[in-house]
Amino acid sequence: MWPLFLFAIAILTLCITDCVYRWRNPKCNGKLPPGSMGVPLIGETLQFFSTYKSNDLSPFIKQRMKRYGPLFRTSLVGRPVVISIDQEFNNFIFQQEGKLFQLWYMDSFMKIFGNQSLLALQGYIHKYLRSLVFNLLGPQTLKEKLLSEMELATMKHLQLWSNQDSVELKEAAATMVFNLAAKKLISYDEEKCSQKLRENFADFRQGLISFPLNIPGTPFYKCLQGKKKAITLIKNTLDERRTSPNKHHGDFMDLVLDELNKTNSILTEDMVLHLIFVLIFATYESTSTSMALIVKFVTDHPPVLEELTKEHETILQKRENVDSRITWEEFKSMTFTSMVINESLRLGNPAPLILRKTMADIHIKGYTIPAGWAVMLCPPAVHLDPTKFADPLTFNPWRWKGIESNPGKNFMGFGGGARSCVGSDFAKVQITFFLHHLVTKYRWKIIQGGDILRDPGVKFPNGLHFQILEKHK
Ligand code: HEM
Ligand SMILES: *[C@@H]1O[C@H](CO)[C@@H](O)[C@H](O)[C@H]1NC(C)=O
Ligand SMILES: *[C@@H]1O[C@H](CO)[C@@H](O)[C@H](O)[C@H]1NC(C)=O
Ligand SMILES: *[C@@H]1O[C@H](CO)[C@@H](O)[C@H](O)[C@H]1NC(C)=O
Repeated sequence: MWPLFLFAIAILTLCITDCVYRWRNPKCNGKLPPGSMGVPLIGETLQFFSTYKSNDLSPFIKQRMKRYGPLFRTSLVGRPVVISIDQEFNNFIFQQEGKLFQLWYMDSFMKIFGNQSLLALQGYIHKYLRSLVFNLLGPQTLKEKLLSEMELATMKHLQLWSNQDSVELKEAAATMVFNLAAKKLISYDEEKCSQKLRENFADFRQGLISFPLNIPGTPFYKCLQGKKKAITLIKNTLDERRTSPNKHHGDFMDLVLDELNKTNSILTEDMVLHLIFVLIFATYESTSTSMALIVKFVTDHPPVLEELTKEHETILQKRENVDSRITWEEFKSMTFTSMVINESLRLGNPAPLILRKTMADIHIKGYTIPAGWAVMLCPPAVHLDPTKFADPLTFNPWRWKGIESNPGKNFMGFGGGARSCVGSDFAKVQITFFLHHLVTKYRWKIIQGGDILRDPGVKFPNGLHFQILEKHK
């Protein structure tokens, strides 16, 4: 009996050793970038997502950058990944969008958003969907249609908040942006609708990049459930609209219904449902996080607040009618505000990673990245690089002065290339309007929370509770 048992143990050990060896040394037609694949299956997932407190680059990236240089390999949520902090390579990736590289936020994310989503579609269909979205959210529409509506919604919310003792800003801003986006997309009105669309997006971020285990209790499972309900709600709205085709609501759904109705349209119903779903998600989470970051930074830096207030009060002084709505020209003249927003995105990094998949073997600086691997761009590594932004951990909006003409190369707050953020103008207008009314009409203080935690996404673990009061009261 014993020899057989020992033999079995020996075989098992061999198998495990072989498995570990293969995990650590993935197949490659060349030399892999340096790095460690961590332990089998889990890789370095736990280290990568472990939380830290500062605005600085994550310790995970920092340590590996020191040890391996600007290009290194790892394994996250079950997939091999090469992390790039090489700006030249980053720009190459953006240029090769849809050719050598494709958007791919790991299996979990792609399964949640589905293969008919804007994020999964490539080539001319992707271009076509982007142009549809630009019709809704781009500068032209903003200029002609959205400005006053956005401003009035912002004013209404600020007024509401000033009647409360304490407002958790991240959540309150999310509600404000969510309501506006859902209204412009599908004329959704939370007060009138029995199903709460927003609830389906709660905790969404947790499961987006995770092990794709569809088992009750996992973050991935919760994400899929939330998506299913949201898609059903959007589909019901679409079906209702179809039965009363002559009534126009002035929203995105009008636009896509017209498109769907065209003969030879490449748009399908499934694409429409997923597009609206992606847009709702992309809008409110990033914008509200950015707003909370900006308020936190500005509150902590009184000279910035003073300059910001001056810029917005000057706008009011120049007006014939103080109570008129903000015009596009006024918005465009708010240079310091734009510097504050850029600086907050640079230092705050609400979008801390950008992920792609290689479509072929990539040869770079003597290394080979095998086809099918993930490549992660790391915007904070560029934004916090002292050779690109002097004294990088200091919040200093004035650093943007004079570099307006050429920030592109080193600023990735909204991504880059053919897949850069389609909502950047929308977000900037929303943030600017919020700041305009906040600094001209209100004073405020942070009464609780305000600590920032990163995982590496931005979190406010005990919120950002602030009290806002009308000025001169
Ligand atoms: C301050 C707020 C925002 C930040 C920091 C931000 C950041 C980003 C970044 C970094 C990307 C590139 C992702 C990649 O390359 O993989 C992106 C893409 C995108 N963003 Fe935003 N975003 C913001 C607001 C918005 C808003 C308001 C919308 C409104 C609809 C939006 C919609 C999108 C969409 C649809 C994409 C994908 C574009 C494509 O794949 O062609 N974003 N965003
Ligand atoms: C897209 O996903 C659906 C269901 O998840 C599947 O049936 C279909 O084959 C997929 N299509 C492609 C092109 O992968
Ligand atoms: C689609 O087009 C047909 C004919 O052009 C029209 O009768 C119908 O009302 C349209 N439906 C929608 C939803 O616009
Ligand atoms: C902020 O960054 C954008 C690039 O996303 C740039 O176009 C703009 O000029 C910058 N604003 C200022 C004031 O530097």
